[in-house]
Amino acid sequence: MAQDSLRRLAGELRRFIANQEEDEFILTAAPQRAADILPSASVQPAAQEALPKMPEGETLTVEFTRKPKSITPSAAVEVQPTAETGLAADSQISLSGSLMTTAQKTTALAELAETIKSCTRCPLGSSRLNAVPGEGNVDADLMFVGEGPGFDEDRQGRPFVGRAGQLLDKMIAAMGLKREQVFIANIAKCHPMTDPLHPEKHGNDRAPNAEEIACCRKYIEKQISIICPKYVVALGGVSAKALIADAKSLGALRGKFYDLHLDSVTLPRPVKILATFHPAALLRNPGWKKDAWLDLQMVMAELGLKGAAK
Ligand code: URA
Repeated sequence: MAQDSLRRLAGELRRFIANQEEDEFILTAAPQRAADILPSASVQPAAQEALPKMPEGETLTVEFTRKPKSITPSAAVEVQPTAETGLAADSQISLSGSLMTTAQKTTALAELAETIKSCTRCPLGSSRLNAVPGEGNVDADLMFVGEGPGFDEDRQGRPFVGRAGQLLDKMIAAMGLKREQVFIANIAKCHPMTDPLHPEKHGNDRAPNAEEIACCRKYIEKQISIICPKYVVALGGVSAKALIADAKSLGALRGKFYDLHLDSVTLPRPVKILATFHPAALLRNPGWKKDAWLDLQMVMAELGLKGAAK
């Protein structure tokens, strides 16, 4: 009787797990026996055998724990630049804990971009012309995160290529960097439109809503964990609130670094985040540019950047 229940439960688990996308689950059956924690999501026949034999009439408690798949194990390991590891002393991956090589990051980000391009987890997936996963240097020390693609980005499938993007390019150049040296992405990967039936219309932009942000969140989190920059600059209130996980206004969040903590991934090393104005807001309110420049100078000081040559 108890065996039948367990078999039925294992079937339920298999179906449940098959419906999950990329996460692994740890199944803890009969929590009093820690040894019964199964190593991976799939409930193999051997693992079914490992389930505890239930005395009749007793209740079986099952707990699911989401286990971030990506690069969690690397968090405990440090790779040092030695002759054996073949790493240059200034290599990104020598900087404590990030085990992903440039090639691994490139592959992981490309795979993620393909997933994003076929994503229909929220309605934006049906109205977009192109998904906009993000682009840039996979080994970047600095990552910029905006709120979501607009008209031009939707057409080109690239982030920040419209008027706001041109200003962002100037901000990056003023810091003494080239666009290709940083990584640029958005919280939402598809164009949030006020009128999704007419994606060809200009002026059809809006901020992503809470549901869209929740659907997309794992993508930006995974990108940050793969790239593992030293600093993230959140562009605008939507990005700042989502990543700093604080509902305060942008004005209240600006001016200090926060330790970045993500929901679905463990970062291989600490990442700091700073909030500043969105370039589109700076286009509307040029008077805010000097404050944005103060923010960027905080990051420049941390990264030892001298700014553009005069
Ligand atoms: N605004 C954003 O937030 N992101 C873009 O990619 C373009 C405009």
